[in-house]
Amino acid sequence: MAIKRPKGTEDHLPAGSPKLTLDVSAQAHAWLVQTARGVLERAGAQRMDTPLFEEAELVKRGVGGSTDIVRKEMFTVYYFGDHGGYILRPEGTAGLVRAYLQNGLKQLPTPLKLWTHGPMFRAERQQRGRLRQFHQVDYEVLGSADALVDAEAIALMVQVVQALGLQGVRVKLGSIGDPEDREAYNEYLRGVFTPHLDALSEDSRDRLNRNPMRILDSKSEDDQALMARLGVRPMLDFLGQEARTHFEAVQRYLDTWDVAYDLDPSIVRGLDYYRRTAWELHHEGVGAKSALGGGGRYDGLAQELGSKEPVPGIGWAFGVERLLLALEAEGRALPAPEGPLLYVAALDEQNVGYAATVALGARRVGRAEFAYRALKPGTAFRDAERRGAHLVALIGSQEVEGDTLSIKNLVTGTQTSVHTRDLHTFLQGQLTQNPQEHA
Ligand code: HAM
Repeated sequence: MAIKRPKGTEDHLPAGSPKLTLDVSAQAHAWLVQTARGVLERAGAQRMDTPLFEEAELVKRGVGGSTDIVRKEMFTVYYFGDHGGYILRPEGTAGLVRAYLQNGLKQLPTPLKLWTHGPMFRAERQQRGRLRQFHQVDYEVLGSADALVDAEAIALMVQVVQALGLQGVRVKLGSIGDPEDREAYNEYLRGVFTPHLDALSEDSRDRLNRNPMRILDSKSEDDQALMARLGVRPMLDFLGQEARTHFEAVQRYLDTWDVAYDLDPSIVRGLDYYRRTAWELHHEGVGAKSALGGGGRYDGLAQELGSKEPVPGIGWAFGVERLLLALEAEGRALPAPEGPLLYVAALDEQNVGYAATVALGARRVGRAEFAYRALKPGTAFRDAERRGAHLVALIGSQEVEGDTLSIKNLVTGTQTSVHTRDLHTFLQGQLTQNPQEHA
């Protein structure tokens, strides 16, 4: 039987593949990451990458032992003779903060802005936009507790969405307070739910012991109906003075910059390291339960991972597949595949090697391809057109002897004779006329 890819994973396909859609197009993924990178690097973020697998302890301490991610969704990595204590990373933040501490990045100017992109792994039930291997673009800022950094992080997320040309995105903004505020809220929730244990789903009963706030995130309709009936108060009601002042400052900056958001008084994030500002971006086309991305402040994480001093931090991650689904929902088409700048074909078998030499040399300027066997002129032109080539050079003995190339521009139809020593200059000239393509 033919071997298939594992459940919950996707192949990212080249242009021209049958059944190609944005979310499985390798080109669309690359374009999206490139667009986000432009926004983030203009804001001063530097790229930093960490391993795809890490000590399981990192995720347990970082993401939190009571989360679904740690309890149900970790992929464990085994290799011969190993203790099995590694896991495939379910998210990027814990690894980046570990690497920041381990590599002494505290010495760099603060706040330090980092970004990364890559696959993340969570053994979730597969659904549309919910994969076991998915990709994130991740942005983190370390070393500042200033509300201005929170507001800038949110504004950058909105800028990425704008740079992608997405319209229907809403920012849901909340605060989950400082740890003592959260403890007070959890205490309140225990008081509210304990008399109604029988009415709660099994999952939520379990959450009541471990982390009552997570009940608010329950997917059970009965749980949601119970909460509405009980009139459960939101987390925002429980913010202490400092967290409240911080949250108001974040909103003031966003208002000044005209960054639109909806206050979500009961936002719950699925990771334990958050405190204070927390937010998510949503899009109708992807569904209410599936955020395009989310983030928050995590001032306690570095100490959780062993740092003696506190390192304030904040960040966010977009789900790349979800952004692509949102673009698809808005009717965005696949980017047109780029063709080669130059396509070279020999007309006789003895000149195939020469044609290849011309193409290899032309690659110093742009993309160049060649035919691996001799072609008749008609076939060569058809092949060049199918590949979307801009220029075609057909090589016969006359061209080889005269050291010239007869180059046809498939866009304008013009024919030019170019000496081989002038080929680079000629191609450079073509590139200047079409800067977006072929480079
Ligand atoms: P998260 O909310 O768990 O946060 O994930 C961020 C985004 O990744 C989600 O909004 C979603 O778009 C995407 N995502 C998550 N799980 C899946 C999945 N199974 N399939 C497809 N996409 C998925 C974090 O991961 C935090 N590390 C974000 C952060 C950075 N907070 C601070 N810094």
